[in-house]
Amino acid sequence: MMHPNILNRFDLAGRTAIITGGARGIGLEIGRTLSMAGASIILADLDLETVKKAAVGVGPDVKAFQCDVTDPQSVRDLAAAIGACPDILVNNAGVVRVAPTKDTSDDDWHFVTSVNLNGVFHCCKTFGVAMAERGSGNVVNIGSMCGSIVVRPQNGPAYNASKAGVHMLTKTFACEWAKSGVRVNAIAPGYISTEMTSDPSYEISTWVELTPMGRFGRTDEVASVVHFLASDASSYMTGSVISVDGGYTCW
Ligand SMILES: NC(=O)c1ccc[n+]([C@@H]2O[C@H](COP(=O)([O-])OP(=O)(O)OC[C@H]3O[C@@H](n4cnc5c(N)ncnc54)[C@H](O)[C@@H]3O)[C@@H](O)[C@H]2O)c1
Repeated sequence: MMHPNILNRFDLAGRTAIITGGARGIGLEIGRTLSMAGASIILADLDLETVKKAAVGVGPDVKAFQCDVTDPQSVRDLAAAIGACPDILVNNAGVVRVAPTKDTSDDDWHFVTSVNLNGVFHCCKTFGVAMAERGSGNVVNIGSMCGSIVVRPQNGPAYNASKAGVHMLTKTFACEWAKSGVRVNAIAPGYISTEMTSDPSYEISTWVELTPMGRFGRTDEVASVVHFLASDASSYMTGSVISVDGGYTCW
């Protein structure tokens, strides 16, 4: 019996992928990676001019759209502007506020949970439901190791709770749509070098010391796992939360 070439299962030619928060950092790298794998890319982010500039050079078939994932109408407007339901949705848009609970304002709490958790819900309500009705689709959510452990020395109650929520939404949608041809998985990155982790007040030496591999991860080391989850190479996976953290959560 002839076995098909396993590498063909990583091919995304003919598929369209929407990446939220695609203007920079991990989201932009996911755009480049999925484009290299053959997908048509839609980068969605808050500011149209920024995301348009970022889209240049990402790949041969890349479009940029404005979208605020905290606003369900903005997500529905994005869906209307795109027209067809995408094959792949990467819920990557995220924000962080670092402070102990006593210094976390109500606004901080609402800001972080609105983007990180509500945003995933709104995008899945619009695109995931449409995928399930169509009978095919793939969702990859960007969670965090902070969704399952409390990192040190800084604290971020809203960030931690929002990412735990992303992991649970991943499993919830995965079960709901498993028989409708839609897979939903998540990635839980450790510390990755992006603008999000570049605040000079952060105790980076502690973070590195607490990471068994002794370094930050690169955006391409997250994007390649997103590629795997978004492709048929992971066809029997749904509801999984994959650590990409240099071993951080082992200790
Ligand atoms: N960098 C890390 O160490 C790390 C670790 C674990 C998880 N993550 C997660 O990875 C994802 C990407 O992080 P990053 O490091 O690339 O961050 P980043 O700050 O570099 O990029 C985040 C992007 O999201 C966009 N965004 C913010 N609010 C939005 C909204 N309401 N609607 C649409 N877009 C919005 C921003 O404009 C920005 O382009 C986030 O979900 C983050 O929580 C990052």
